[in-house]
Amino acid sequence: MSKSRLVVATRLPAAVIERIHRDFDAFVPPNDLDGPQALQAVMDTKAQALLVSGKTRLDGDLIARLPAHLKIVATCSVGFDHIEVAAARTRGLIVTNTPDVLNDCTADMAMLLILAACRRAAEYEQVMRRGWGTAFGMGEFLGQSVSGKRLGIIGMGRIGQAVARRARGFGMTVLYNNRRRLAPDLEQGAIYCETLDALLPRCDILSLHAPATADTENLINARTLALLPKGAVFVNTARGQLVDEDALIAALSSGQLFAAGLDVFRGEPNVDPRFRSLPNVFLCPHMGSATVETRNAMGLRCLDNIAAVCAGLAPIDPL
Ligand code: 8YV
Repeated sequence: MSKSRLVVATRLPAAVIERIHRDFDAFVPPNDLDGPQALQAVMDTKAQALLVSGKTRLDGDLIARLPAHLKIVATCSVGFDHIEVAAARTRGLIVTNTPDVLNDCTADMAMLLILAACRRAAEYEQVMRRGWGTAFGMGEFLGQSVSGKRLGIIGMGRIGQAVARRARGFGMTVLYNNRRRLAPDLEQGAIYCETLDALLPRCDILSLHAPATADTENLINARTLALLPKGAVFVNTARGQLVDEDALIAALSSGQLFAAGLDVFRGEPNVDPRFRSLPNVFLCPHMGSATVETRNAMGLRCLDNIAAVCAGLAPIDPL
């Protein structure tokens, strides 16, 4: 049987590329493809499948121009805000993502940001890189304990629940806001707040785990930041689009927030330069899922979806 034709629009780990070459007739360019480049490659190669990541934006116009021989777009990400899924659905084009395999890794990153922000990791690192040299007094340069603090989680899906499990291990109380209240076995004692306005005044630390949609755009803004207790800590491993960055920078500068830990930004990979000069922010370049194990699992899950659809079977992770 001839191999299915696949266009790979994103750079992937070696183990995933190895399987691609074994199982597919693949076009694997050395660079990431944007939407129009991916469309061109699909047409040139007469591909049945297109593999993308969050870096390849596929809007409605572009999806309408994809040829009928393309059966599936598989994104190597759990988030799918870069793809107009409704437009794909209209045309019967299958879109899949990679849920579950990155829950633990992304939750670990949220904990890393919580700890780094509360414990001033960015500033301590700077001191050491400058050579230290002066001893600190017992009352100087102090962070905040996480034990005993109230962690607010916005978006209590699989990643949010994985963060809650970890936070309990650190002795934190978990509160959450979600579209619906979870069943008690999933809630595990976390306190449900029906509205954001009810949650925010009760959080010492706030962590975002909701998708980027029209409803969540700028959820964190001057008004909602002001509802947090003064000196709260904010972390984001979800999407930059959830945050009004002007308001966040103002809250970090005024002391309304003690600190922030950020893995995601608007306009990635070009980040607002003002973040760089704020001492109380710990910054990562969107690395929530970036471990060998997780990135391999994400890539292989994409290929499982593609293989199923090319074999005429149902996808594992349809959107
Ligand atoms: C990916 C992510 O690294 O899965 C997601 O939604 O944001 C990350 O895990 C990213 O999408 C790859 O571009």
